[in-house]
Amino acid sequence: MHFLITAGGTREYIDPVRFISNASSGRMGYALARAAQKAGHKVTLISASDLQPPVGVEFVGVDSAAEMFKAVKKFFAKCDCLIMAAAVADYTPVRSVKTKIKKEDKFLTIKLKPTTDILKWAGRHKKKNQVVVGFALEDKKLRERAERKLKDKNLDMIIANRPAAIGSDRTSVQIKTPDSKWLQLPQASKTTIAKKVIHLVGSHWY
Ligand code: CTP
Repeated sequence: MHFLITAGGTREYIDPVRFISNASSGRMGYALARAAQKAGHKVTLISASDLQPPVGVEFVGVDSAAEMFKAVKKFFAKCDCLIMAAAVADYTPVRSVKTKIKKEDKFLTIKLKPTTDILKWAGRHKKKNQVVVGFALEDKKLRERAERKLKDKNLDMIIANRPAAIGSDRTSVQIKTPDSKWLQLPQASKTTIAKKVIHLVGSHWY
């Protein structure tokens, strides 16, 4: 199989030296890329993380949500499975100022506009034989909200987790496909969870 995996938190630039981002480390996406590669699959990793590219993996570095969307569109048609593990910014500045914003003694307002939901785009454009997997980060009503994302984004699998997973080496996740019950994977290293996810995708669809 050819896995297309995204990782890391995107950076939305306000000016050349300042950006809005989030606490995602990219570890889950990288663990998935390594697990898929070790299992003998071809892997393309689109990353907004500073982590070192894993060996044996096709690597595409990006900064912003817009760049990540462009890269996903470029590689999506050729992949068998997209896993959107990246923490894509939901909003980006309306204007990115070309020179460093100077300090002034008054309030500064930065207007944000919504980004494209890459996962939703993939769910809408996938071919019959393509599998699209999304993550759902939820602090409340985890299963209910994750299931809504599974349906609304036309996904084949949703992996739900809690904010505590962000930046941590370990995580516990709950997984659902449209026709299965919830599967709870107990807390483990992201490496262990990633191996299970890749195995699940491989055995469920291929
Ligand atoms: N995602 C995406 N493009 C975006 C935002 C999110 O592809 N612009 C993907 C993420 O990579 C993840 C999934 O959508 O796989 C869910 O992300 P999450 O932050 O949990 O939810 P959102 O859809 O952004 O909604 P909300 O933040 O309101 O919960």
